[in-house]
Amino acid sequence: MADRAKFQAIKGVRDILPPESALWNRVEQTGREVFGTFGFAEIRAPILEPTELFARSIGLDTDVVSKEMYTFVDRPDRLKEPKKLGEYGEFIEHVKKLFQNGEIPNTRYNEFAMASLEEAWEKYKQLRPRDKLTEKDWESLDLLILSKEAMKLGPDMSMRPEATASVCRAYIEHGMQVQPGNVKLYYMGPMFRRERPQKGRYRQFYQIGAEVLGTSDAPGIDAEVIEMLMTLFERLKLKGAILNINSIGDKNCRPAYVEKLRAELQKVREQLGPDSQRRIETNPLRVLDSKIESEQAIIAKLPRVAENLCDECRAHYAEVKRQMDLRGIQYQENWRLVRGLDYYMRTTFEITAPGLGSQNAVCGGGRYDGLVELLGGPAATKGIGFAIGTDRLILSLQEAGEGATQTGLDVYLAWFGAAAQTAAIGLARRLRGAGFVVELPAVEMKFGKSLGLADRLKARHAVIIGDDELTAGVVTVKRLADGTQQKLNKHQLFDYLRPRA
Ligand code: HAM
Repeated sequence: MADRAKFQAIKGVRDILPPESALWNRVEQTGREVFGTFGFAEIRAPILEPTELFARSIGLDTDVVSKEMYTFVDRPDRLKEPKKLGEYGEFIEHVKKLFQNGEIPNTRYNEFAMASLEEAWEKYKQLRPRDKLTEKDWESLDLLILSKEAMKLGPDMSMRPEATASVCRAYIEHGMQVQPGNVKLYYMGPMFRRERPQKGRYRQFYQIGAEVLGTSDAPGIDAEVIEMLMTLFERLKLKGAILNINSIGDKNCRPAYVEKLRAELQKVREQLGPDSQRRIETNPLRVLDSKIESEQAIIAKLPRVAENLCDECRAHYAEVKRQMDLRGIQYQENWRLVRGLDYYMRTTFEITAPGLGSQNAVCGGGRYDGLVELLGGPAATKGIGFAIGTDRLILSLQEAGEGATQTGLDVYLAWFGAAAQTAAIGLARRLRGAGFVVELPAVEMKFGKSLGLADRLKARHAVIIGDDELTAGVVTVKRLADGTQQKLNKHQLFDYLRPRA
């Protein structure tokens, strides 16, 4: 017999199964309810976006963009590949046209491949008959084929590693700035990052996020977004969540701080690990994120961003804190909280929750004024938002015993004989119509087996229909918790079942 491959989910992705999926539903449903009361509406953005969208917003030097994205080059919609060398001329003309009108992405990479393709084609046209081809001639033939293979002909796209960039893209694309007041959107769904999988860290993970976009950067917005988040956590009975906040300044004061930090880091360069050393050049702020034990004492002595804010940022941060106090939100300031994505400015925050081990950030967010403009949208647009790691939130709830409460089975409808099956089908329909959860066996079973299954399925009641019941116009109801049994007519049955205790 042929060896049948056993399929398994690929590394870092997983199935979410019942009963855990019931907890996921509860979390998402509560999110919808809470966000709704703050005037947020749902956006469902696509999972695939242009790679450039993430590169530009999250930043080329971030871990997410430089090594964690699932990126691929799609095929262009219409392009006939050359089958013979003689067809290359036609192919090149076609590609040139698509390249000029942007259907083939105008990247430097493609520009280079296009140039070498044309050069190789020119050389090919001058070749002598095949039997006299020299080594060099063959090389130019190879170059022709390789240049074609190297061209990234279709749009470059990535599976979203987060959704803030997508929300900003949608805001611009649909001209949402004309809407009255702030645009308040929330989303739920899978994100993809090629990270090393471990507890609470997956390659396909889920986020519940929200974004506020508009022309105001009032600190009251920052505080209200955080209030909404904390309300959700409270409603879900998430215990032990700690809110960390910080301000990382803006384009007026941050560059000077970053330079100051870089200069200080240069002085201690030799004492830092390779990652931090690299970040001195690429992104010194990220050194503050380091969890490496030996670097902690060094980091503690570095200049602090809060002490290097410009007047406007300092005032904004102070007002955010006052607005949080007005709402009774507890927080702790953490000057090392810089976040790993480039678009942030001013307010940043993160929430940790217990039971998660090293991956204890259950939510991250912050202000990103300027991102919409960077992506080609209206210049004055401000933005702030957060994303909860749903997988981690669920883990933390489970660890705290706030596990799944799947709706149990109200009625197991045991029937015996063809006539009883007809009656059972009708009764099942009416019971389900009234909202009861009903299991109706598809085939007839022996009495003992059928009732045994009702027990194992943890049904609250077995409703039994056999010849005797049919004749008498009743059903037998057995309460499985204590075995008490009685005969009821249809009306009595509904009354009896109604208080779903
Ligand atoms: P982030 O900090 O990259 O921010 O992700 C937010 C949360 O997603 C994290 O705190 C964590 O709970 C969860 N998360 C991230 N990566 C993984 C993973 N590999 N496995 C499981 N959970 C993960 C953002 O994504 C921003 N877009 C948040 C935001 C919205 N800022 C402003 N608006």
